[in-house]
Amino acid sequence: MILSIESSCDDSSIAITCIKTLQLIYHKKISQENEHSIYGGVVPELASRLHVKTLPDILIECKEYFPSLKAIAVTNEPGLSISLAQGIMMAKALSLSLKIPLININHLTGHIYSLFIEKKEIFPMCILLVSGGHTQIIEAKSYKETKIIASTLDDSFGESFDKVAKMLDLSYPGGPIVEQYAKKGDENRFSLPIPLKQSSKIAFSYSGLKNAIRLKIEKLKQEKNILSQKDKEDLCASFQNIAIEHLLQKVTKLFKTNTPLNFAIVGGASANIKLRNKINNLCHKHNTNLHLSKIKYCSDNAAMIGRLAIEYYNNKNFS
Ligand code: KG4
Ligand code: ZN
Repeated sequence: MILSIESSCDDSSIAITCIKTLQLIYHKKISQENEHSIYGGVVPELASRLHVKTLPDILIECKEYFPSLKAIAVTNEPGLSISLAQGIMMAKALSLSLKIPLININHLTGHIYSLFIEKKEIFPMCILLVSGGHTQIIEAKSYKETKIIASTLDDSFGESFDKVAKMLDLSYPGGPIVEQYAKKGDENRFSLPIPLKQSSKIAFSYSGLKNAIRLKIEKLKQEKNILSQKDKEDLCASFQNIAIEHLLQKVTKLFKTNTPLNFAIVGGASANIKLRNKINNLCHKHNTNLHLSKIKYCSDNAAMIGRLAIEYYNNKNFS
């Protein structure tokens, strides 16, 4: 079995995965959403201190599996350095004391492997990664052959949801709450610009859209002082519609020149149902197979890290 640790941002998570059967034997994640919510975003110092407390609480539950462990895997990049450090210190200590190899895992490749939890891998695959820190299109031929073919010029898809939620005094993380508000709202009430609409380049940008929605909110506040529930729902719906339309336009552009056989959406924001439905329709039109992670494995978790670590273990790719 492999014990894997994820602590790159604000989730403390540990998993135990069986190398031979790919079975997920143990998985726990303790999220710090409530603690960061009052600040409207992740406070790195607080995140790091909370990992110090929660990671050992989870680890203690895994003690019975220690004699069966063959390796320790840990997310080592990218992420908040002082959060990553907590998981890495624990992983190094376990590797040294149990005398088993250490496997370093890239968080973004980990997200790709959320598709393959308890399943065989499928490659080649083209992947849209939408998280709090990244918005990318990746071409992957195997776990170690990945190429970024498009990325954001500024902010990311998930982060823009977090900022809109903050502007509207909604909770953190913003994605799920903005999606809920959007469901009840009128997406045509506020007209917002689709980013990079005229550009032939396949790239993403969210800073302009964030600014445009901020101006709409400020104007509305000047007019009526306090925003109603309906105002907030309409703002969320209008914003979400354009944020997704932007992704869709760029993915459509990609499909026109290079239609992949397998396409996937991964990362925390891939839990967004409207995004899933729109990409599903596009894939259907192009006869492309769409692969999606289970909703519970979209956001950061150690199960995806453990699943990827099996590939490293089988190739004796140790740190
Ligand atoms: O992958 P993840 O858990 O952490 C990072 O690696 O960044 O992604 C978290 C991001 C947050 O920005 C969150 O607001 C966004 O994913 N997110 C969503 C949804 N659920 C989470 N964005 C849009 N719609 C959602 N339903
Ligand atoms: Zn992530």
